[in-house]
Amino acid sequence: MMVEVCNVCKRYTEKKLTVDNVSFSVEAGTVYGLLGPNGAGKTTLMQMISTLLKPTSGEIYIAGLKAPKDTLEIHRKIGFLTTEVKLDPGSTPNKLYDFFAELYDIPKETVKEKKQRDFDRFGIMPFADKRIVDLSTGMKQKVSICISLMHEPPVIIFDEPTNGLDILTSKQVTDYLLELKAEGRAIILSTHIFQLAESLCDVIGVLVDGKLVASGSAAELTEMTGSKNFEEAFFKIYSEYHKEQ
Ligand SMILES: Nc1ncnc2c1ncn2[C@@H]1O[C@H](COP(=O)(O)OP(=O)(O)O)[C@@H](O)[C@H]1O
Ligand SMILES: [Mg+2]
Repeated sequence: MMVEVCNVCKRYTEKKLTVDNVSFSVEAGTVYGLLGPNGAGKTTLMQMISTLLKPTSGEIYIAGLKAPKDTLEIHRKIGFLTTEVKLDPGSTPNKLYDFFAELYDIPKETVKEKKQRDFDRFGIMPFADKRIVDLSTGMKQKVSICISLMHEPPVIIFDEPTNGLDILTSKQVTDYLLELKAEGRAIILSTHIFQLAESLCDVIGVLVDGKLVASGSAAELTEMTGSKNFEEAFFKIYSEYHKEQ
């Protein structure tokens, strides 16, 4: 398994667990989707998997490595995209790419060619020297994706990767994720959009109030709940487990 999440909890306040005893694992060449509404704990969980946040209890292994002992090595194995981190607004796609290439020790002679390839794929070229602040949300997201995957990590952790994107940009991103899956990467993505989970994920884990309450393929979850489609299955699962507070 490329990723193993074992009984992970996160407590921000005395009152409740934001992530409550979550366990799952992700194989190479598969997409695991964490599906849940806003506030379910997706970002918190993704940040723990990426070592940005320390679990209150439980263990996480990335390619057999464990934080905090192996944190630096883990960073080389993961590509992380979060909804929280913002690109420096005064910089440009070109400058940011070169900056991160140096940070990741990408050999100088390959950076130019690699950048050309990445920027071409996402139509970034015409914007390569424009300031980040002047770019659209979609363009910024595409730049973030290129940067987060520049070191070709075997594990990809994308928090709501298509959030706020128009349908064309969204499709570019999901097509790319399918290519990365075909290359054998292990992908974890979070989303609150059940169509995205259904179309992209081999396994979907439904997260409700910090708990992983069901998991399986969209077809399995649909059958398990006696639903006519995945949408119905998701709402059944959600209403069964969500408690008004
Ligand atoms: N740093 C923090 N301190 C306290 N509470 C937090 C913090 N970050 C998130 N939360 C709370 O934890 C819950 C889950 O948030 P989050 O992980 O962002 O969920 P999601 O990404 O599924 O929307 C929310 O109720 C949120 O308000
Ligand atoms: Mg979130």
